[in-house]
Amino acid sequence: MFSFNLPNRFCGHAMLGAAMVLGAAIAAGAAEPDRAVRADTAEVVERMLEIAKVGPQDYLIDLGSGDGRIVVTAAKKFGARGFGVDLNPVRIKESVENAAKAGVSDRVAFHQRNLFETDLSDATVITMYLLPRVNLDLRPKLLDLKPGTRVVSHDFSMDDWKPDAFAEMEVKEKYGSAGGDSSIYFWIVPARVAGSWQWRLTIGGKPLAYAVSLEQKFQMISGSVRVGASSATLQDARLQGDQISFRFSAEVNGAPLEHRFSGRVTGNTIEGTVNIAGSRSQGQFEWNATRSAKAGQSAAAALVASAR
Ligand SMILES: C[S@@+](CC[C@H](N)C(=O)[O-])C[C@H]1O[C@@H](n2cnc3c(N)ncnc32)[C@H](O)[C@@H]1O
Repeated sequence: MFSFNLPNRFCGHAMLGAAMVLGAAIAAGAAEPDRAVRADTAEVVERMLEIAKVGPQDYLIDLGSGDGRIVVTAAKKFGARGFGVDLNPVRIKESVENAAKAGVSDRVAFHQRNLFETDLSDATVITMYLLPRVNLDLRPKLLDLKPGTRVVSHDFSMDDWKPDAFAEMEVKEKYGSAGGDSSIYFWIVPARVAGSWQWRLTIGGKPLAYAVSLEQKFQMISGSVRVGASSATLQDARLQGDQISFRFSAEVNGAPLEHRFSGRVTGNTIEGTVNIAGSRSQGQFEWNATRSAKAGQSAAAALVASAR
């Protein structure tokens, strides 16, 4: 078991705690908050990495990496690779030493650099323990990452970008030895899906044109569909990274037909499957949807604009 030289208070936890956000709302479908009693700071780091499901395939970047504990733990206990950035050269030196002690120097690196000037494009996981304002300033940069990139923040939210999961832990060494709560927020960067999507299906030997209009606020989506003379509201519409799913019932060829779509979004296309079930038709078919390029561009712009 490796250990770190410095208590966590080096990075101003007392100040951070004073501004702690409690009782965050949770995005639809997220688990109830969990609570572990009297954890230590190493357990908070491990819980952050567990919530993000960090594994050997991951490349983790810690923004404001302090003594390197998150990056080193991710490599040592979870098999990930990655790097940390921090403005403070003393923290960088400690991180390099901590990585060597833990035997993970070949898989991690630490750079003295401003996190806002750091290229995050290789990340599959971003971790941070910063401040509310810094989180908000970072938000557009995070939303620009590959859909599916996981983001974990210790103690601070992203305002109206609600977390996909949230946990709270009582930490015994917080604020010196007084103890206090730590909050863990988790998000998955959503694909940009707002706009008008079209596709065709052949049902009962008849070709049918579908048109869906999708609205999006971060990972929350809603919309409606038109098929022939029928229209319906999308039900159970979900977006997790680049994975989209929804269902609806609409009258097709004179009979109600239940549709369940799921697929993967890549730019202005979706590829997946649809399951249909009705009195006259049922089965699973390929689903290939396209979005008009213009709608795609404005969807991307709208999501970024809403995040600034
Ligand atoms: C609260 S500590 C978190 C350390 C570590 N990530 C952890 O969870 O234990 C925050 C760190 O962010 C660094 N920091 C703050 N603003 C930064 C910036 N703009 N660029 C790089 N590092 C920054 C500070 O020097 C400090 O070491």
